[in-house]
Amino acid sequence: MKVADTGTALREILKNSPRPLVLVPTMGAFHPGHISLMNRAREIAGPDGTIIVSIFVNPIQFDRASDLAAYPRPMTSDLADCEAAGVDVVFAPETTSMYFPDRSITVTESLLSRDLCGATRPGHFDGVCTVVLKLFNLTGCDTAVFGEKDFQQLAIIRRMVRDLDVPVEIVSGPTIREADGLAMSSRNTRLTPEQRADAPRIRRALLAAAGLASPEEILASARDMIERSPLARIDYLSLVDAETLKPVTSLNRPAVLATAVFYGDVRLIDHCAVPAKVG
Ligand code: PAJ
Repeated sequence: MKVADTGTALREILKNSPRPLVLVPTMGAFHPGHISLMNRAREIAGPDGTIIVSIFVNPIQFDRASDLAAYPRPMTSDLADCEAAGVDVVFAPETTSMYFPDRSITVTESLLSRDLCGATRPGHFDGVCTVVLKLFNLTGCDTAVFGEKDFQQLAIIRRMVRDLDVPVEIVSGPTIREADGLAMSSRNTRLTPEQRADAPRIRRALLAAAGLASPEEILASARDMIERSPLARIDYLSLVDAETLKPVTSLNRPAVLATAVFYGDVRLIDHCAVPAKVG
């Protein structure tokens, strides 16, 4: 496994790396969700293709300095995980090698990022799009793999690739969960034992509500189940169209019930599909 810490070093390595080049962009602090994307990358690349994992805690997508500072950075164990997963190249740049101090170009998404995480995290998805496009350009990858857990992020990256004619195929992998249903996240390790024990209610609330008959009932039921916990504070809870990500008032098209919940200052997200109701 080769490790590059600058774009120049990365390009030098990739010059002689066999295609397809499959990229898994990450911020490190790996859990089985990330590893599942690396395994998916190997399926796509085949035994001879090249898997690249980027590890970069991207400062321009954090809206809260405290969240950026607290983000875990276990580089030694991350590299060991990559090695064990059969990754060929790790790209782990410093912030100074990714961003010029006077950088002045940003990728802006203006429709899909309005609601959900975009509404409460201003600039977040512009930061994500900008870094992901840079990673696509730096690697020249053929395919990139993203998790469905961050479903708004996935939709926005697909839109960026469509709208800017980016020659990268986007592939997604399913959300990997703990045994009690909590979606795996690097932030879960920051929960207290009480918060960790309570957090599976998010998933249970979404699943129980998704089967109800109307948007009003779905939203009220999920809100009630989450807010019944004194530890949980809802950042947003929305029922949105699965394609446009706009809030819906009827269930005549596939929808997604999505939420972000604070436990202390740890923000957890999850979502579930709400199929269209016929008749
Ligand atoms: P990060 O949160 O490290 O996630 C890296 C990838 O892992 C993303 O595609 C995310 O959707 C996926 N992932 C996270 N938890 C998962 C789970 N439980 N199951 C399956 N996949 C999961 O997302 C980012 O980093 C950044 O925004 C990034 C795209 C790297 C840009 O900086």
